[in-house]
Amino acid sequence: MSNLVRLSKGKDIAIITIDNPPVNALSPGVPEGIANAIGDIDSDPSVKAAVLIGGGRTFVAGADIKEFGKMTSGKSRGASLLPLLLGIENCRKPVVMAIHGAAFGGGLELAMAGHYRVASSDAQVGQPEVKLGLIPGAAGTQRLPRLAGVAKALAMCTDGKPVAAAEAFRLGIIDRVIEGDLLAGAVAFACEIAGKPIPRTRERVEKLGTAEDDAAIIAATRESVRKKQRGLKAPLAAIDAVEAATKLSFEEGCEVERRLFTECLFSDQSKALIHVFFGEREVAKIPDVPKDTPVNPIRSIAVVGSGTMGGGIAMVFANAGIPVLLKEVDQPALDQGLAKIRKNYASSVQRGRFTQEFVDQRLALITPSLSYDNFGNADMVVEAVFEGMALKKQVFQDLDRACKPGAILASNTSTLSIDHIASVTSRPESVVGTHFFSPANIMRLLEIVRGKKTSKEVIATCMQLSKKLGKIGVLVGNCRGFVGNRMFGPYRREAQFLVEEGAEVEAVDSALVEFGMAMGPLATGDLAGLDVGWRIRKEYRHLEKPGVRQPVAEDRLCEMGRFGQKTLAGWYRYDDQRRAVPDPEVTALLRKWTAEAGIPQRRISTSEMVDRCLYALVNEGARILEEGYALRAVDIDIIYLNGYGFPAYRGGPMWYADAVGLKNVYDRVCELRQQHGELWEPAPLLKRFAEANQTFAEFNKEQGVNV
Ligand code: NAI
Repeated sequence: MSNLVRLSKGKDIAIITIDNPPVNALSPGVPEGIANAIGDIDSDPSVKAAVLIGGGRTFVAGADIKEFGKMTSGKSRGASLLPLLLGIENCRKPVVMAIHGAAFGGGLELAMAGHYRVASSDAQVGQPEVKLGLIPGAAGTQRLPRLAGVAKALAMCTDGKPVAAAEAFRLGIIDRVIEGDLLAGAVAFACEIAGKPIPRTRERVEKLGTAEDDAAIIAATRESVRKKQRGLKAPLAAIDAVEAATKLSFEEGCEVERRLFTECLFSDQSKALIHVFFGEREVAKIPDVPKDTPVNPIRSIAVVGSGTMGGGIAMVFANAGIPVLLKEVDQPALDQGLAKIRKNYASSVQRGRFTQEFVDQRLALITPSLSYDNFGNADMVVEAVFEGMALKKQVFQDLDRACKPGAILASNTSTLSIDHIASVTSRPESVVGTHFFSPANIMRLLEIVRGKKTSKEVIATCMQLSKKLGKIGVLVGNCRGFVGNRMFGPYRREAQFLVEEGAEVEAVDSALVEFGMAMGPLATGDLAGLDVGWRIRKEYRHLEKPGVRQPVAEDRLCEMGRFGQKTLAGWYRYDDQRRAVPDPEVTALLRKWTAEAGIPQRRISTSEMVDRCLYALVNEGARILEEGYALRAVDIDIIYLNGYGFPAYRGGPMWYADAVGLKNVYDRVCELRQQHGELWEPAPLLKRFAEANQTFAEFNKEQGVNV
């Protein structure tokens, strides 16, 4: 017997235990171990029934994701689980699958090959493969509709969401929920069914539905997936596979599933999504801040400013159960901030995201204040006042006086230097940037900005805190715009240039939406407020190089008071529901302004729109990497996926560039340099990597330059 799988025999009942911590993944050795145990049980006359259970904290949480990469790179052939599952199903003794923790992916496929399933009440089952751009590959799409019905199987295989034990029981995926000791309950169940006829999932047809009903459900699911999971291939493949279950024999269905699974496995989308899966774990690793770096407990915090960001940040902490002191300059501002928080919570209750009770508890955690009086108790302060260096410095001097030693002083600034802010305090080691994204209570990204003097303990604490807050923390260096906004500048600049050269506003946005972005770059400007960038540009105008082209139209729109959604007019016009409508006035104005500026007008292809916006992102990303403001290319990718609506199935901008091939990207950037001048100067790293035939993913600079 393999040491990953144990077999023990009691009176009549054999127990197979999978012992592959931490999650009993089906890594090499586990399937073989199970197959041997089943063989033994089948031929042992003293065994009447068997229970298969996971050792430790879970049943089988899924396949070993690293194996997928080995399969696509040719390092492993990836043995199919199908023969093992058929072997279990064909066993002449009934096999009861006992599930606690999670039976996900291959884990649920394994469970469904058993003759019965029992589960502890806190167990969950699911087919989350789509999240990795895959579909179930071991008959999950064939057995699940036979247990749960076609509609539910489609839902589970396309959205990938877990199903709790109680619902799984209702659906017929499991046969009994066990309260108390799972193994004892499973053994009792096995004794009850021993000797009775053995039900085999693959032979069951009663839940497969009529051809007519199935066709309707399948068509409706396809339509909804095309809308809700725009651009993703795996959910559509999953639908095809479940459809095969409704039309073909089990064996033929398995063949269809296998073919679709392989197509998905070798697809760019799956490779990108697997990169994202590992990337989210990778960003937590900071070479010079090891895992055992001490962290400060954050039991209470204070937020300065209750505007757009401060209010959202207060909610983030309150939602995590951390008491918040919320300070404003005067009563009207405070009242306004609190009213906005209440309104946000009320709409969460309305949409069913939170219960009223939860919201009442969270609101009780927020204490309004007009002074720094109680700041001495806070373990951390997040400053979110207006963006202006003089004001920020004033606030940090006040904080330095008001806060206890060791308290973390964080700024939510989006453009200002953390080092400059830190310089006015007596404790620059405690100062850090925590750059939340708007709306702070929704967006998952948190850029943690490391100043020159920020201590390792403060960084470790912020990284750990980001998890507690339900955010994904990415460490970045202290450059203007940090990583995300620094790259977003050139990206939006190109979008503006495109419309100034003759492209329609909607055409540019829809080219990028078609690429997979959650929103087009011009519509995003309208959402965030065009005035934000306008103010920043005015502040930094002195840094612009004379003679280098700058966009003209957006500043003009702002001068007219067209700030975007908040003024119901920007690049688009907005109705009272804030729905965007193309605005002929903007088209006319563009024509006028570009004529005045002498910009020639031409027809612009969609591919040029996409190339220019994306390669502007990539080129700036390459500079950030080389200058050491991001630790790895994947850090940039994770920032873009979680803060800027970049499609996960393209893996992030740097991964996308690697997939296109850096040589191709570089050549195109050189072409754009010739056509549009020095703003398109290729980043030195892009040039070097393109010439050496390397990928950004291979980038590994000596650490600790700026981050
Ligand atoms: P906002 O204008 O909505 O809110 C700023 C608030 O700070 C106002 O309510 C103001 O009364 C208050 N305030 C000013 N001085 C104060 C003081 N001494 N004590 C207490 N409160 C004071 O601004 P917003 O958009 O919330 O921005 C805040 C910070 O967050 C800025 O640094 C901004 O760059 C940054 N940020 C903004 C994002 C956005 O999308 N709005 C995104 C990420 C960062």
